[in-house]
Amino acid sequence: MKHLINIESLTTDDIIQIYNRACEFEKGIRKSNHINAHVATMFFENSTRTKMSFEMAANKIHANMYDFCANTSSLNKGEDIFDTINNLTAIGMNAVILRHSDDLLVNNLANRRFYQEISFINAGSGATAHPTQALLDFYTIKKHFLDLNQKTITFVGDVAHSRVAKSNIVLLKKFGMNLRVLAPENFQGAHIEGVKYYTSLPEAFEGSDIIMALRIQRERIQEYIDFDYYINNFQITKENLPYAAFLMHPGPVNRDIEIRSDVLELQNARTILNQAKNGVYVRMAILDLVLASQGL
Ligand code: CP
Repeated sequence: MKHLINIESLTTDDIIQIYNRACEFEKGIRKSNHINAHVATMFFENSTRTKMSFEMAANKIHANMYDFCANTSSLNKGEDIFDTINNLTAIGMNAVILRHSDDLLVNNLANRRFYQEISFINAGSGATAHPTQALLDFYTIKKHFLDLNQKTITFVGDVAHSRVAKSNIVLLKKFGMNLRVLAPENFQGAHIEGVKYYTSLPEAFEGSDIIMALRIQRERIQEYIDFDYYINNFQITKENLPYAAFLMHPGPVNRDIEIRSDVLELQNARTILNQAKNGVYVRMAILDLVLASQGL
């Protein structure tokens, strides 16, 4: 695994390999030492979970981590991002963890030839892909349910602008899950084959094993958003959340918009922080495999 760009390029065996390796890291039965590896985070969009858990993961496998700060870099003097990364390879960087609003940038970069070999890990590209989030969500779900076949997950909210939902749908479809979307029509996005779409919360939640709420991506939406309509019809509350539902959210949560605040105190919502915790083990596994592909 030289790069991790999207879920489409992973087989189910690849995904299980990442899952198993993450399990071993969590149990403490695998130790890795990548002391000769140099990894840069390049985040052009805000992040808490992804960036910090990659940093934690790199520390735990003894890789050297560097934070590229776009605002103080020579990108501000007009340098092209390809030239910037090419110089990072010359300095000795072996991998870049990239988050960018451009849907295609990380894919395009992974297909370029650089001064020295370099791996790319997609930490979120536009509204298209967030593969490491989908892998940690898979890890969280599989640890709980073991067999995912015919389990039903409902994504609630702004699927149209959610890279998390899109990567999750591709991944969970590979494992035979039933996929539902509950959202107002303007948040449903282009309909995906094999996914059932709902505008009625009770209908969508009936028979759902997992409910994954999504943040409304205000930064990607130009049009007026009717929050009152959304809250009245799609907000997850104590009253409408099925008793046994496994409640997930990739974060950040906008309290009292997609989920009512008091729901976050329920046992169901502990999953949300478990997702963040599991992100460390899954990102350890991803970094471990990517760095090993370069013999580091
Ligand atoms: N889920 C997720 O990507 O969170 P951050 O934006 O905080 O990294």
